[in-house]
Amino acid sequence: MSSGVVAQRGKARRIPIHRTLPRFVTNPYAVLDEVGREAGGEVVRLELGLFRPYLLTHPDHVQRVLRDNSDNYIRGGRFWRPLRHLFGDGILGEDGNGWEHSRKTLQPSFTRKYLDSLLVRIGEAVHAAVEELDGAALSGVPLDVGEEMRRIVSRTAVEVLFADQISAADARRVVEAVDTIGTSVVLRMSLGVAAKSVPVPGDRAYWRAVRTVDEVMVPLVRQAQRGPTDGTDILAILSRARGEDGGELTDAQVRDDIVAMFVTANETTSVMLTWLWPVLQAHPEVAQRLYDEVDRVVGGRPIQHAEVAELNYTQAVLDELLRLYPAAWIFTRLVRRADVVGGVPIKGGSTVLLSPYITHKLPQFWDRAGDFDPERFLASRRARLHRYAYFPFGGGPHQCIGKYFYQLKAQVIVATILSRYRPTLDGGGIPRPAVAASLRPGRRIEMTLSPVERRLAA
Ligand code: HEM
Repeated sequence: MSSGVVAQRGKARRIPIHRTLPRFVTNPYAVLDEVGREAGGEVVRLELGLFRPYLLTHPDHVQRVLRDNSDNYIRGGRFWRPLRHLFGDGILGEDGNGWEHSRKTLQPSFTRKYLDSLLVRIGEAVHAAVEELDGAALSGVPLDVGEEMRRIVSRTAVEVLFADQISAADARRVVEAVDTIGTSVVLRMSLGVAAKSVPVPGDRAYWRAVRTVDEVMVPLVRQAQRGPTDGTDILAILSRARGEDGGELTDAQVRDDIVAMFVTANETTSVMLTWLWPVLQAHPEVAQRLYDEVDRVVGGRPIQHAEVAELNYTQAVLDELLRLYPAAWIFTRLVRRADVVGGVPIKGGSTVLLSPYITHKLPQFWDRAGDFDPERFLASRRARLHRYAYFPFGGGPHQCIGKYFYQLKAQVIVATILSRYRPTLDGGGIPRPAVAASLRPGRRIEMTLSPVERRLAA
């Protein structure tokens, strides 16, 4: 595309994307790659017909929005409104609607120290879920990678969020519903349509999926609210929590937060772990180094607490995966008052877009930006990075609350799988991303596992 970047002194450069709108709808990532290259880190204004958001990609600009002047850039507006049916008013609500209180309530359960104390339980849940692949590994039956990653990831989420209060069948229903929501809500989000009365393609699947989430979650919440336990799972913690007025939380408040946590915990992690396998297949030298590290540190045993800290290369692979395939590929803020960013005036009431997908590949900050090279995240090289050249988890007050939970369970899942099997993929290469709320592979990926000798009875 020649995006037709138009430069004007003291103003954001304009990029008239509406001319390439059909392509933007079918493959926004290709358009974003081109826009990112042309913008080169400068503030640009995307012309999408009547909607003209600013796109901020330079790490200094991202830092201003997310951290330094974050009060002026709030979560809300056209992109967030459609999500309200699903997430309500809690931790993933628009700013000002109970978010702060939800964040304070949930934060202690997502600290490194607290999650480390759950490692044995997380490890056992992962081990049990991974062991179920033994049959397929012994018979050589190909597996649907996306489906298996969702299944394994949801076991850890269920363990931490619900203890044993949700059945495997119900958890699966919600995970499938969330999968549907991820693709069916995109058009509502891009059009900024929240009202149920306005029909949008994909609606039927979307509403059905939102109903499924509630059919499973609401009875669980009611039961927990009627008889709160002293458990350490998130549902129990929310049921015991006090509201801003000192009273109990309402069923709706607990529902909004538990749904938000369950959806984000499953969707992001399973999407990342689905990307991992085709990327490893395309980079055999990286795969070999990863296998060697897992063999050396974990061997064939269930993973132990101290071993997680030794999985440095595994962590670097996961970090690099998030650089090139950031699950949260774009997110937005509503501008409250006019501001100036990078010398360019930003209008009050407008929308800014931040895209880790673009910033993570800016050539000023990344050598050989398109190459998959986990070494760039090993301690010696990482120190030189601008904090906001890499922001897969956002930053500032809304920084991802589940960042460490993700890192921990992704490491445990990868190490557990590789301690038992070696993967071979269908040979289709690395898929193109699909249009969805998170950056998902655009096709089904099949993988065959072969047992690592002597390990399956471990
Ligand atoms: C690869 C994994 C993940 C990625 C890439 C990711 C990305 C992000 C990003 C970019 C934000 C900031 C959004 C914004 O500023 O508007 C965010 C916020 C959030 N994430 Fe994650 N996330 C991941 C895993 C998780 C997990 C496992 C959980 C749940 C345990 C989670 C729960 C949340 C919540 C609740 C917020 C909202 C925080 C707030 O507004 O205070 N995320 N995440």
